Amino acid sequence: MAKIIDGKHISQEIKDELKQEVAALKASGRECALAVIQVGNDLASSVYVRNKKKACEYIGIRSLSYELDENTSEDELLALIDKLNADSSVHGILCQLPLPKHMDEDKVIKRISPEKDVDGFHPQNVGALVIGQKGFVSCTPAGIIQLLKRSNIQMEGKHCVVIGRSNIVGKPMALLMLRENATVTICHSRTRNLKELCKEADILIVAIGKPQFITADYVKEGAVVIDVGIHRDKNNKLCGDVKYDEVEPVASAITPVPGGVGPMTIAMLMHNCVEAMKMYS
Ligand code: GUN
Repeated sequence: MAKIIDGKHISQEIKDELKQEVAALKASGRECALAVIQVGNDLASSVYVRNKKKACEYIGIRSLSYELDENTSEDELLALIDKLNADSSVHGILCQLPLPKHMDEDKVIKRISPEKDVDGFHPQNVGALVIGQKGFVSCTPAGIIQLLKRSNIQMEGKHCVVIGRSNIVGKPMALLMLRENATVTICHSRTRNLKELCKEADILIVAIGKPQFITADYVKEGAVVIDVGIHRDKNNKLCGDVKYDEVEPVASAITPVPGGVGPMTIAMLMHNCVEAMKMYS
């Protein structure tokens, strides 16, 4: 029987720690604020944005909401970012991705001040991660490190296989595991012997984006399995990239979907906001 890594519980623990910290800061006259920008009304984005605002409310972070029309020009969005960059009462700026097709995502990400880039997407923050300097780290991989640490799972010297090489999850995940002294392999859609490589993992982190792709024959007995995927199966039930029922008996620890990695992303976003205020204001 695998240990179930309870992301709901661990994220709640982090949010409660932050809530206390925010209350203490408020008592000394400092109020943390996060600006959340959404362009258009992509359904999934709306759910994420709503949950981010709810978490702010719970912790005591002021959230400023900017819901821009789908047809907003890139220049208008950049002007809003400039305004928020210059506003010293705003500590974090988050622009929900994906953006409409007529916008250049890289340009928008670069426009957010690295000191307010609580998503950790700005090239300066990504660069800092690569060379081991302080900076904001992308929330999902940062949350996975917290899941492992708070579950007392050692990373040092372990073979960690990451499936996925996105800028938001796979690449920063691999760098964070390296920082924890793991031996890291990155796999992706062009990897030839995926199953063999996965079977060598002590810690398998799956961000492949395909529902229930990872079956028991990909997993070494006793491995730790972290599932970043979130999908709906044919019965409209939430599922991950891992075939949970099959993999759970093989693993020593595993994250469920929902209630594993998902809630950690928002907890780490809140963590980054509080850090932004403490470091840069
Ligand atoms: N879209 C999907 N994930 C994320 C995220 O972590 N941050 C932002 N800004 N957009 C996203």
